[in-house]
Amino acid sequence: MRHLLDIRDLSLEEIDQLLDRAEDIIENPKKYSECMHGKKLATLFFEPSTRTRLSFEAAMMELGGNVLGFSEAKSSSAAKGESVADTVRTVSCYADIIAMRHPREGAPTAAAQVCPVPIINAGDGGHNHPTQTLTDLLTIRREKGRLNQLVIGFCGDLKFGRTVHSLIHAMMRYEDIRFVFISPKELRVPDYVLETLQKHGIGYTEVEKLEDVIGTLDVLYMTRVQRERFFNEEEYLRLKDSYVLDLEKMELARKDLAVLHPLPRVNEISVKVDSDPRACYFRQVLYGKFVREALLMKLLEVEV
Ligand code: CP
Repeated sequence: MRHLLDIRDLSLEEIDQLLDRAEDIIENPKKYSECMHGKKLATLFFEPSTRTRLSFEAAMMELGGNVLGFSEAKSSSAAKGESVADTVRTVSCYADIIAMRHPREGAPTAAAQVCPVPIINAGDGGHNHPTQTLTDLLTIRREKGRLNQLVIGFCGDLKFGRTVHSLIHAMMRYEDIRFVFISPKELRVPDYVLETLQKHGIGYTEVEKLEDVIGTLDVLYMTRVQRERFFNEEEYLRLKDSYVLDLEKMELARKDLAVLHPLPRVNEISVKVDSDPRACYFRQVLYGKFVREALLMKLLEVEV
């Protein structure tokens, strides 16, 4: 039995196979429409979500399976003090696989120690979000035609953004990748991530102004400043509008730039950018469903 707790749980070969499978599902949805008949996915979301929870549920339904779960801790017995371990032990009696989001870093990993069915980390605090990373990889591969030889800029809250940490860990395994980190000093990429890059000799630069580097990027990964992770509201208000990608900045970018964002967006991309063909973030949302279908099949060892 396999869990998916961190993107590094998957080898590069397994990631490529998942992306291939997702592409095949996109091309041949009918082939897969009954393969999960009789299987159940539980979505246990102790923290808010729109895309991750609903795309997991849509994915399971499109494969012919069923879903159950809760979308906030207060509608579960967690509100009465039940532990995460007891919750997953209980839910494993009703479901074949669990997708779990929790505000505490490491909570899905701890849950996996006692859970007799596969657990998928659907986001744990500011730590990891491996299925968003699979979504991002599929988006980059479809939009750019490759996952190597890329200059990738990450912009915004690189400290608390779990999608950023997971995607860096995934992309650094591909060939000839260079990272450009664009953030205020207060929201820099954590040292433990930078140390991993240094250890593997992967090139990166850190800058504060998006305008200075946007013209050098193949991919721009915009992120929201994560209000829920700040200890101090004043600090959040000071930093929240550090970056706004607008049409003026897009003028400075390459014609083949791919702009990604894990969403939700608050104010960091002007809605006027949405109609630019380089804005990939709503296509990215759609790809998330297909890659989660591929992942459910892998972890439940379902073949067609
Ligand atoms: N990208 C992402 O995790 O979105 P949600 O918080 O809406 O699930």
